[in-house]
Amino acid sequence: MGTSTRTCLKSVPKDLRVLSRSFTSIMLFSSGAFGAISLFGLMSVVSVIGSSCPTANAENAPAFSSLRPLLSSEAALVLKGDVKFDNLTSRWREWHSPSIAAVVQVATKKDVQETVRFAKHFNVSFVARAGGHGATEALANAKNAIQVDFRKLNQVTLNANGETATIGGGATVKQIIDGLAAVGKRAVTGICECVGITAPIMGGGHGWLQGQYGLAADQVVSARLVLTNGDVVTVSNESNKDLFWAIRGAGHNFGLVTEWEYRVHNTKENQWSYEIFIYTQDKLEALYELANSMIKDQPAEAIHWGYIVKVDEIDADHPILWFGIIYDGPTETAREYAKPFHDLEPVMVQAGEGTLHDLAVLTFQDLNGAGCAYGLTSLRYPIGLKSFNVAAMRKVYDHIDETFRKTPEVAGSFFLLEGYSTQAVKAVDAGSTAYPHRNDNLLVTSYVQYQPNSTIDPIAEEYGQTLRNILLQASDDPAHLHAYVNYANGDEPLEAIYGWEKWRLEKLRQLKKQWDPKNKMKYYVPFV
Ligand SMILES: Cc1cc2nc3c(=O)[nH]c(=O)nc-3n(C[C@H](O)[C@H](O)[C@H](O)COP(=O)(O)OP(=O)(O)OC[C@H]3O[C@@H](n4cnc5c(N)ncnc54)[C@H](O)[C@@H]3O)c2cc1C
Ligand SMILES: *[C@@H]1O[C@H](CO)[C@@H](O)[C@H](O)[C@H]1NC(C)=O
Ligand SMILES: *[C@@H]1O[C@H](CO)[C@@H](O)[C@H](O)[C@H]1NC(C)=O
Ligand SMILES: *[C@@H]1O[C@H](CO)[C@@H](O)[C@H](O)[C@H]1NC(C)=O
Ligand SMILES: *[C@@H]1O[C@H](CO)[C@@H](O)[C@H](O)[C@H]1NC(C)=O
Repeated sequence: MGTSTRTCLKSVPKDLRVLSRSFTSIMLFSSGAFGAISLFGLMSVVSVIGSSCPTANAENAPAFSSLRPLLSSEAALVLKGDVKFDNLTSRWREWHSPSIAAVVQVATKKDVQETVRFAKHFNVSFVARAGGHGATEALANAKNAIQVDFRKLNQVTLNANGETATIGGGATVKQIIDGLAAVGKRAVTGICECVGITAPIMGGGHGWLQGQYGLAADQVVSARLVLTNGDVVTVSNESNKDLFWAIRGAGHNFGLVTEWEYRVHNTKENQWSYEIFIYTQDKLEALYELANSMIKDQPAEAIHWGYIVKVDEIDADHPILWFGIIYDGPTETAREYAKPFHDLEPVMVQAGEGTLHDLAVLTFQDLNGAGCAYGLTSLRYPIGLKSFNVAAMRKVYDHIDETFRKTPEVAGSFFLLEGYSTQAVKAVDAGSTAYPHRNDNLLVTSYVQYQPNSTIDPIAEEYGQTLRNILLQASDDPAHLHAYVNYANGDEPLEAIYGWEKWRLEKLRQLKKQWDPKNKMKYYVPFV
């Protein structure tokens, strides 16, 4: 029932292949300064929310309305059939998404407690929602669930000590960046402006600043959680230490976070510097060999960020290699660092300086960019690596190239190669949090994206799995996949996600018995 209503009302972005046509003109004619346009930036989301769709009839609507008087005046209860419902439940990936019967827009901690208690009483499932970018298989197991919508709990307040901020469980990357910048601060966040902060923290959390300050999870001083029985607990180094350990790597499975006490840092004088290099495929070996050699002493301020993507205007026949050097330092330092990439003779270079927002635009992760568009089917198959196996990268490339020809529906997909610096990540004791992949240097994944089409689904799945498997087989440890939980497709071995050391899953399962004995939180890579 939910599915048909959803399909009818969701937003439909245009085909990415059409959008990429704008890419060359932007690259060629951009003045070098940051424009508001990016590769997929011209994507317009065509809203087809209309009146012709049937109004759903939530069979348990009367029970839901009994929750209303228990909520604060700022909260809202939105049932299926309400004009706002489809907007509130629409997701980055609609495919295999939870089926939602009611949305509770919580505004206070007590709202969360009441909602969880209500769910318990009526034996209804619930899923938390912040940025709506969660896309992992288990989400689809939530049926007729309550969406505990945290988007109103989005405060970003600098604390008196100037060293931490209190951040609401529903805040997005953009809200944090903007809120902190206004008081001269910055913090570790993900790249994409519309993604929530809570899920990344709970799974580790990668971003531009991790080499200098650590993962997002490493920034947490304490957190407030509403447990699945409705109780509230504070977790920190002093209080409920084991749960504090668990929510930094496997947090989606334990409780609902209403707020974080989160480390912040002073902003720097300089802007970020960047150079984006575009290569044709004949440079593939030279490019990833160079990247390998540079990983060895990659400064904490430098990020290597890459895509393999089809841009017809640059190469009508083959995908191109997009490789960015993003640098938190003076332009001269950044240029000096990136010099060797010029020697490989890119077909294009785009260089400039900018803010964190500008970096989001540059990497297509701003509010108007591809990363924030809703409604495509998107599959990810992540793998953490120590370095590039260049021969395997060639195989990956060739398979991408071949698949784009054979199945043009997926030719708007991209392959993402994130090479963040890792100094501060590795400086944290690997056993001190549930995040298991501190030794990886590269985070690689397909984003197999296409207009929803069930004929394509099996092809897309096989494609994504094949690409990952090529890299796994060529890695230093083919028997032990590393898959970042926040990118996980959800069918990986649990050890690949939560760690191969036996004690990790044992400890998580033990803690699960203690903190969520009825396993109410099981819709995001569950391990029970
Ligand atoms: C385009 C794109 C860019 C991304 N960029 C990055 C990045 O730079 N760095 C990175 O680390 N990851 C990144 N990710 C992955 C991201 O961490 C996950 O997709 C994450 O699940 C998204 O969180 P959300 O709040 O947007 O999604 P939602 O679907 O709202 O939430 C995802 C899950 O998090 C849990 N959750 C959310 N809020 C709460 C809460 N308050 N309390 C308890 N549980 C909660 C729930 O289990 C929920 O199902 C990116 C993903 C996409 C699609
Ligand atoms: C939902 O509504 C808000 C506010 O009008 C809008 O900004 C947003 O784009 C809408 N989301 C979708 C998916 O249509
Ligand atoms: C609660 O709901 C689940 C899933 O619908 C069902 O399997 C279970 O039996 C229910 N429990 C009770 C106590 O009704
Ligand atoms: C917790 O305490 C340990 C030991 O005192 C310390 O090394 C660590 O940095 C603390 N972690 C956090 C997140 O505060
Ligand atoms: C889905 O993909 C198949 C295979 O390419 C194609 O024939 C069909 O037209 C597509 N369906 C839709 C609705 O786009």
